Amino acid sequence: MATATKQPLATAAKDFLPLNGTDYVEFYVGNARQAAYFYRAAFGMKLVAYAGPETGLRDRASYVVQQDKIRLVLTTPLRPGNAIADHIAKHGDGVKDIALWVDDAVSAWRETTRRGARSVREPWVLKDDHGTVRMASIATYGDTVHTFVERADYNGPFLPGFEAVEQDNVVRPVGLKYIDHVVGNVGWNEMNAFVDFYRDVMGFEMFQSFDDKDISTEYSALMSKVMSNGNGRVKFPINEPAEGRKKSQIEEYLEFNNGPGAQHLALATDDILTTVTKLCEQGVEFLRVPETYYAELESRVGKIDESMEDLKRLNLLVDRDDEGYLLQIFTRPVEDRPTVFFEIIQRKGGRSFGKGNFKALFEAIEREQGLRGNL
Ligand code: FE2
Repeated sequence: MATATKQPLATAAKDFLPLNGTDYVEFYVGNARQAAYFYRAAFGMKLVAYAGPETGLRDRASYVVQQDKIRLVLTTPLRPGNAIADHIAKHGDGVKDIALWVDDAVSAWRETTRRGARSVREPWVLKDDHGTVRMASIATYGDTVHTFVERADYNGPFLPGFEAVEQDNVVRPVGLKYIDHVVGNVGWNEMNAFVDFYRDVMGFEMFQSFDDKDISTEYSALMSKVMSNGNGRVKFPINEPAEGRKKSQIEEYLEFNNGPGAQHLALATDDILTTVTKLCEQGVEFLRVPETYYAELESRVGKIDESMEDLKRLNLLVDRDDEGYLLQIFTRPVEDRPTVFFEIIQRKGGRSFGKGNFKALFEAIEREQGLRGNL
């Protein structure tokens, strides 16, 4: 039996860690200039800020790309033997920091470390002509961190030290709006420890859970629990592998990422037909489900606004819950290691995570895993 559960979100009254949303997601990459070009040309992000040797940094360069509320920071080391270079050597290009926008960074750091979070960096202050930003960082799964960012007293392009980039001649916007959720992959039997971490240390509550009967194919399985903060603006599903006949996609990720880390970022749009059409034109590669997926679709999800022709043409997935439906599609990994990928999602009332699509989707992933010789 399926055991998806839905539980009420925490009330604001007991929220000791109020979050305004995701502030930015920072990737450590081998070549930030070229990675930034990829996100601008393919995903339609606009280059808005830069910091590097020209602005006084000696050890790194960072490019900030943005589309509506989605802000990615692409950081590369300029020399060997520092923490950024070590992170890339171990994990490849990937997510380092899922930064959270708060009104009080010192309080966020104090409340979470008091409850058992490991401090990565005690509260610090950055200033420039545009004002002041307060930040502090704690550890989560693998080598990933959450930085709390308090920016009410700041009106610069990103953070103190970054210079604004006035014009971007590459950007090709596709209508992406905000980060819907960020999924973490953790190791065998580690999911519940991180569920406890987000509940006890960050004040999140479990929003939905899926066991290996919900998420299994002929070959492999995984388990997932979705943690949400009190106002629902920050959602972190946590996956762990489950026993199957062959290696699961989570195990493949853990092997190539060399441990736990962020698996995918789900980016929301309010017009997925236009967004995915443009992304395809701009070279973003998506997983494909077989034609047979669409044969049973209408009986599973009922009437929807989109035409079957459009869904098939763009290979979109649809799922319904008792509040509405959602449309989603997943990219192939965006680097050579089979690690981080993106989801594009449009919610039309649906608050779930596409449980009805898991089987078709994971079979599509397994076909690619097989091609890589990792199944
Ligand atoms: Fe997702």
